[in-house]
Amino acid sequence: MLKQTSLAQLQPHNRYVLQLAPTITRSTTLSTLPFFQRTLFVHIPHHTTVSQDRKSAGATIRDSSSAKQMIDTNPPRGTRDFYPEDKRLQTWLFDNFTSVSKSFGFEQVDFPVLESEELFTRKAGEEITEQLYNFEDKGGRRVALRPELTPSLARLVLGKGKKGLSLPAKWFAIGQCWRYERATRGRRREHYQWNMDIVGVPGIEAEAELLAAITTFFTTLGLTSQDVGIKVSSRKVLQAVLSAAGVPDASFGPVCVVVDKLEKISREKVVVELQALGVDRMAADQILAALSLKTVEELEAFLQDMTNNNNNNDSNASSPAAVAELKQLFAYAEAYGYADYLVFDASVVRGLAYYTGIVFEGFDRAGQLRAICGGGRYDRLLGAFGGEDQPCAGFGFGDAVIVELLKDRGLLPDLPHSIDDLVMPLTPEMRGAACSVAARLRRAGRSADLVLEDKKMKWVFKAAERCGAGRLVLVAPDEWEKGLVRVKDLGAREEMDVKLDDLC
Ligand code: HAM
Repeated sequence: MLKQTSLAQLQPHNRYVLQLAPTITRSTTLSTLPFFQRTLFVHIPHHTTVSQDRKSAGATIRDSSSAKQMIDTNPPRGTRDFYPEDKRLQTWLFDNFTSVSKSFGFEQVDFPVLESEELFTRKAGEEITEQLYNFEDKGGRRVALRPELTPSLARLVLGKGKKGLSLPAKWFAIGQCWRYERATRGRRREHYQWNMDIVGVPGIEAEAELLAAITTFFTTLGLTSQDVGIKVSSRKVLQAVLSAAGVPDASFGPVCVVVDKLEKISREKVVVELQALGVDRMAADQILAALSLKTVEELEAFLQDMTNNNNNNDSNASSPAAVAELKQLFAYAEAYGYADYLVFDASVVRGLAYYTGIVFEGFDRAGQLRAICGGGRYDRLLGAFGGEDQPCAGFGFGDAVIVELLKDRGLLPDLPHSIDDLVMPLTPEMRGAACSVAARLRRAGRSADLVLEDKKMKWVFKAAERCGAGRLVLVAPDEWEKGLVRVKDLGAREEMDVKLDDLC
C-alpha cells in the first residue's frame, strides 16, 4: 500500500520510488538521490508494484493481488520518446540537414540500424567498440545496433564496386545510432546523426567542401562564429612524429586512439599506454609536444626541428604534406567565407582509429557542451574491410548537442501544430457531407482535420485553437442544400458562406 512517510523514517538502504520524477526507478536507493528528491518519496513494501502515470506525474501503487498492472511508460534509460512537439522539432532539424546537403549536391542514402557485428569490431581499443549494443539473433548470427554510420556507408560503397559507382560519390544520411554510454547533457544511448561523406576525392578540396556544409548549417540556424567554432588538425602530424621515431605504420590507429584520451586520463597514463604500443618515451614526449602546438607555423617549425634532431631524411617524416594541406584548407576557408569558424588545434586527434588525414570537431565557444560534430579523412577504411581503398572524407553531426546549444542561445524555433482547416458537421446527418468537404480540401492540397464525433460548438472552437486551424468549416443542412458551407476565418475573426467550388 502507498504510505506517506516522513523523511526521518526513511531508511537509506530500503527501496523507494519517487512520485514526481519519472526518471527515478524502483531500484534507486535513497542515499544516491539529492535531498530535495528524498522528500518526495513513498515507501513500497515488497508485495506492491508501482506504475507511473506520466501525464499526472504521479505514481499509482497497486496491490499485487490486483490483476491489472501498468507497464513502465518510460523509454529505456538513455533513450528518448518523441511526442508530437518533440517530433516537430526533430523534423525541423532534419529538414535543415537535408536542405543543406541537397544545396551542396549530395544524394541521400539509407541502410539498416542493425548490422553484422564484424562491421564495428575493430582492434584499436576504441571506446565506440566497447559501447556496442551487440547480440546474437535467432539465427545465431552476431549482430549489432550501429554506433555510427561510417562503416555501413563503406559497406555500401564496397557493395557497388568500383565500376558500379560513379565517383566522386557525395552522399548524406540521417540515422539513429546506439552507444552504451553514460548519459550526460547532449549525450545519450541513442542519437541521430547527420552524415555527409565524399568518396573518391583525394585532395583537401573534399574537406573544404564538407566544412562549408557544416558552417552553412550553423548560419542557417542563426549560429555565428562567435557561438561555435571548428577545431581542425591533421593526423599526418602524428604520423610524421611516429615515422620519425621509427614506429611501425600498423600502430598508427591505436596510437591515435590512446592520444585522444588525453582529456580523460592523465598524461602519464597516456605515456604508459603509448609505451605498451611500442612507442618509446622520447617519441611519446614528441607526440605530446606536437599536440600542444597552437598555429600551423609552430607546427611547421616543430616538424622541421624534429626531423633534424632525429637525423631522419625521410621527407614524409617532416610531413610537408600535413602542413601544406592545412595551409591550403585555411586558404579555401577564406575563399568560401567561413574562415572565422576555423581554429587550428593540434590536440584534436579524434577517437576513431580509421582517420588518416585532416580531422575536425565542432565546439561551442562557451565551452559548456561536448562536441557538436566531428569528422575527417579516412582513406584506408575500405581496404580494412577487404576492398580496394578509396579516398573518403566525411563528418557526423548529432541531433542532441545542437538542440541544447540552440536552447541556450534562445534560437529554438516556435513550431506550433497547425493545419489549414477544421471541418465540422453541424448535425449527425451532415457527417457524410463533411467527409466529402474534407476530402475535397485534402485533394486540393490543404491540410484538413475532421471532427469525428458529435461535439458542441464550444468544444470545436477549443479544438480549432489546439490544432492551430486557420479556418473552421461548418457543414450545416440549410447551407448544404444551397451548395454552401459556413467558413469562419479564425485569424481575421470573419464568418461567411462560401460556395463549395470557391472553398479551396
Ligand atoms: P563521432 O565523433 O563519434 O564520429 O560522432 C559524431 C557526432 O555524433 C558527435 O560529434 C556528436 O554530435 C554525435 N554523437 C556521438 N555520440 C553521441 C551520443 N552518445 N549522444 C549524442 N550524440 C552523439 C562518428 O561517428 C564518425 N562516424 C563521423 C564521420 C562520418 N566521420 C566520417 N564520416
